[in-house]
Amino acid sequence: MSYQVIARKYRPQTFADITAQEHITRTIQNSLRMGRLGHGYIFSGLRGVGKTTAARVFAKAVNCQRIIEDAEYCRTVTEPCGECESCRDFDSGTSLNISEFDAASNNSVDDIRMLRENVRYGPQKGRYRVYIIDEVHMLSIAAFNAFLKTLEEPPPHAIFIFATTELHKIPATIASRCQRFNFKRIPLDRIQQQLQQICDAERIAVEPDALQLVGRKAHGSMRDAQSILDQVIAFSDDYVNGGAISYTKVAELLNHIDDDHLFAVTDAVLERNPANMIETAQFVICNGYDEQDFLEKLIEHLRNLLMVQNLRSTKLVERPDAVRERYQRDAERFTPAAVMRMIDLLVQTSRELKFQFEYRFRFELVLLKLVELAGTAPSSYATTTAVQAEQQKKKPALNL
Ligand SMILES: Nc1ncnc2c1ncn2[C@@H]1O[C@H](COP(=O)(O)OP(=O)(O)OP(=O)(O)O)[C@@H](O)[C@H]1O
Ligand SMILES: [Mg+2]
Ligand SMILES: [Zn+2]
Repeated sequence: MSYQVIARKYRPQTFADITAQEHITRTIQNSLRMGRLGHGYIFSGLRGVGKTTAARVFAKAVNCQRIIEDAEYCRTVTEPCGECESCRDFDSGTSLNISEFDAASNNSVDDIRMLRENVRYGPQKGRYRVYIIDEVHMLSIAAFNAFLKTLEEPPPHAIFIFATTELHKIPATIASRCQRFNFKRIPLDRIQQQLQQICDAERIAVEPDALQLVGRKAHGSMRDAQSILDQVIAFSDDYVNGGAISYTKVAELLNHIDDDHLFAVTDAVLERNPANMIETAQFVICNGYDEQDFLEKLIEHLRNLLMVQNLRSTKLVERPDAVRERYQRDAERFTPAAVMRMIDLLVQTSRELKFQFEYRFRFELVLLKLVELAGTAPSSYATTTAVQAEQQKKKPALNL
């Protein structure tokens, strides 16, 4: 059998399997139980968070024979059964009760007219025809207008689901005729759990920290997380001989800047050690990391310190436990004001870097300025021994 990418192989088939969008799936299931279905829905939110998936499960559920015929099942389970003829048609892709329409490539008035024609005909089997209109914000204003009438007086068998990543581009005239569901960014722990389940099902061992890193790279999109996991599995052969895919392998593949380098920067600030700072800058430059990217990571690093300082807890720090402990320790060694000042400087330079010629030097300079920000430097860095550095570390919090 040909290989199927993870995102397709593990597309949820039931409401219960759609992660972290319970506020939406619960509402849809309630309206199924009460038989109060709308004709127009807007599913908005980031890419890869379950909009198309939820629309498909919804379409399958409204036509599921078991839900229609068995009131008890409808009330207590409220999921497409997956066994009736209609559900099987959906699963094999032969159901005529679902039409997916990509508004990005069919956005003219003529395309909408054709869709409108199509909508007039009711389903041969089942109760509803569900039209999923993806990337709906790409429709032209004229196309939207052509659609308004249909949405105003839809035939009883038609349900429209408009999916979009850009809610603000949908005209109010359309939006106000629909029920709106805003899909959330998926929290890191839920992404990590889902990836873990997939790895278990695929019998692939992966270190938890490695999966957390994959999740972090996805910034809340489940599809992105699954695509990165595909790449990681292809790249790493650790698991073939019974080992686990390691954090180090994943960091290498994703060209990930390890937390150690970020701590090296704040350590150099605490120790007022420009030599170490230059070393870190060289590391970034010589290993082909993107300077801008490094500054962004550094800003996030300082943001983590700030969170720990203000909350007195590491709960908002998305890192493995050992790294969290390090944040806990280092947060006490700076004052919040010092951290904020460093963030300001980095944000400003990060913006400037986009337009600079002296790109590399600017990068080195901003790192050195961090040390400068910390006050007067000791007379000779070269003589700073490990013992002295240790003593420096024990000094009270830096108040810049
Ligand atoms: N909430 C979720 N729970 C479980 N898996 C999910 C979820 N969201 C997305 N996925 C996974 O990501 C894949 C893509 O999701 P989907 O097509 O629903 O995204 P989308 O929100 O429609 O994105 P786009 O805006 O790019 O169209 C699914 O096949 C599934 O594997
Ligand atoms: Mg989609
Ligand atoms: Zn069914």
